[in-house]
Amino acid sequence: MRHLLSTGDLSRDDAVLLLDTAEEMLSVAQRPIKKLPTLRGQTVVNLFFEDSTRTRISFEAAAKRLSADVINFAAKGSSVSKGESLKDTALTLQAMGADAVVIRHGASGAPARLARAGWIDSAILNAGDGSHEHPTQALLDAFTMRRHLAPSGDRSLEGRRVAIVGDVLHSRVARSNALLLATLGAEVTLVAPPTLMPYGVESWPVETSYDLDTVLAKSDAVMMLRVQTERMNAAFFPSAREYSRRYGLDSRRMAKLPEHAIVMHPGPMNRGMEITADVADSVRSVIVEQVTNGVAVRMAALYLLLSGARDAATTSPATTADLTEGQA
Ligand code: ASP
Ligand code: CP
Repeated sequence: MRHLLSTGDLSRDDAVLLLDTAEEMLSVAQRPIKKLPTLRGQTVVNLFFEDSTRTRISFEAAAKRLSADVINFAAKGSSVSKGESLKDTALTLQAMGADAVVIRHGASGAPARLARAGWIDSAILNAGDGSHEHPTQALLDAFTMRRHLAPSGDRSLEGRRVAIVGDVLHSRVARSNALLLATLGAEVTLVAPPTLMPYGVESWPVETSYDLDTVLAKSDAVMMLRVQTERMNAAFFPSAREYSRRYGLDSRRMAKLPEHAIVMHPGPMNRGMEITADVADSVRSVIVEQVTNGVAVRMAALYLLLSGARDAATTSPATTADLTEGQA
């Protein structure tokens, strides 16, 4: 694995290796000294053409915890606003010796273009491209599910039932999750109003439904999606109130979930729209934990892409001692 562009590129072994490595990284994050020397001397560039809170901060924390040098680049305030192209931006990063580029871009396919155009040698990590994919989000979601739904034994999500609910049409989180969860053997049901179900969803490895209440009763995890008004150029539902009534998660609806089921949201949330505040803050909500896990998962992704392990997809660090090997 040289780049991380799509969860569709990951085999089950790749995905399990990433999740197992993230487990090791999480235990590092729980130590008083959270830093490992693994990526000392390497440079990670965070190249964000779209706004972000969680992804940008957690990639930065992840790179710093691995002792990499981090350069943060936001398109706002850069020469992109003077019309500089993606190619020239990439050539600039290449000239500065970036070993990894974490890119978020409004255009679907921009990270793949960067990885394949030959402008830059760095490992490319997709941090969200248009409404296409957000692979590290799906990995942190699977990681969080595994910790709650398969805490011991083979840690497998095989046969676990996951409902992904809401604005699937505009969601890169939904696509990356659908592909990854299918690879991991989980059963995904997408629930959305007909207007927000993606075209060609028949080719996705998922079931679909328009009836949230029925799906909730048989779900192990429910993932609520933000209604992405910034990507909507038309009216997709009659009113916010009508949307919440049919597709929002409130406490009455949450009660339909089995006892053990968890409530997830990638953030940022529209509280009161797709999820009520009491559900978001309830004991069944793992939303804050998803953010914590995001750092460990991104540490694992950077480690595997940059440490030379990328060509040895079968060698997971068995213990955190392996990760600290060579520490001065
Ligand atoms: N933060 C996630 C993303 O960038 C989800 C969202 O914005 O709704 O895709
Ligand atoms: N979940 C997520 O990607 O959040 P940000 O948009 O804040 O990075």
